Amino acid sequence: MSSEDLKRQAALKAIELVEPGMRLGLGTGSTARHFVELLGDRVKAGLDVLCVPTSNATRIQAESLAIPLTTLEETPELDLTVDGADEIDEDLRLIKGGGGALLREKIVAMASDRMVVIADASKQVATLGAFPLPVEVVRFGFRSTEAWIESCIEEAGARGSMALRLAAGGEPFITDNGNYIIDLKLGRINEAELLDELLRSVPGVVETGLFLGICDLAYIATPDGVRTLQVDRSVD
Ligand code: A5P
Repeated sequence: MSSEDLKRQAALKAIELVEPGMRLGLGTGSTARHFVELLGDRVKAGLDVLCVPTSNATRIQAESLAIPLTTLEETPELDLTVDGADEIDEDLRLIKGGGGALLREKIVAMASDRMVVIADASKQVATLGAFPLPVEVVRFGFRSTEAWIESCIEEAGARGSMALRLAAGGEPFITDNGNYIIDLKLGRINEAELLDELLRSVPGVVETGLFLGICDLAYIATPDGVRTLQVDRSVD
């Protein structure tokens, strides 16, 4: 089974959670793309939903499928967000932002009663950090911000290097919000909560790709079927 087939299987499970009248957050990336495509089929068949996309790319896809869209200004509370992830650990802590949409993804997920992640099994890890952690920073003073990020990494007991993300043409990658992304290559993140807290206290940092205590259900597609991972957030 190809990795696209697996992503499709996970998306098919998530589409079962969608009920008529729901307000949905639509994730970004190659796995979320499958979900949006399946949702487009349901909408065409008459399903009534209202959706907030987490990126311009997803908005364009959803518009092409005539999925009714809204904004968080008009609809600040959502029922369910379905999104992909770059890494998922067993407590459903995530690294996201490989596609650069982390800020809107986190805002939309936090506006939702539930965040469900869909992924193939390659995304499941014992410890977060092999995937470079994206940190969105404002462009102003970003070299100074980098120096602060370096001290946060040290204080959180991690080690590694960082790189300003570049676009295909070699120029700095610019997010949908007009910011830069610095990717932290740490190998492993033992103290994710501490690192996240430290990074978010730096003035130039807008958001990190650590999604901690946000996702409560994940559908992980394997060649042997789709595994369900769940944590009870009502006791958090
Ligand atoms: C987008 O910024 C990311 O957070 C994606 O959700 C994540 O990178 C997963 O993408 P894929 O489904 O393409 O692996």
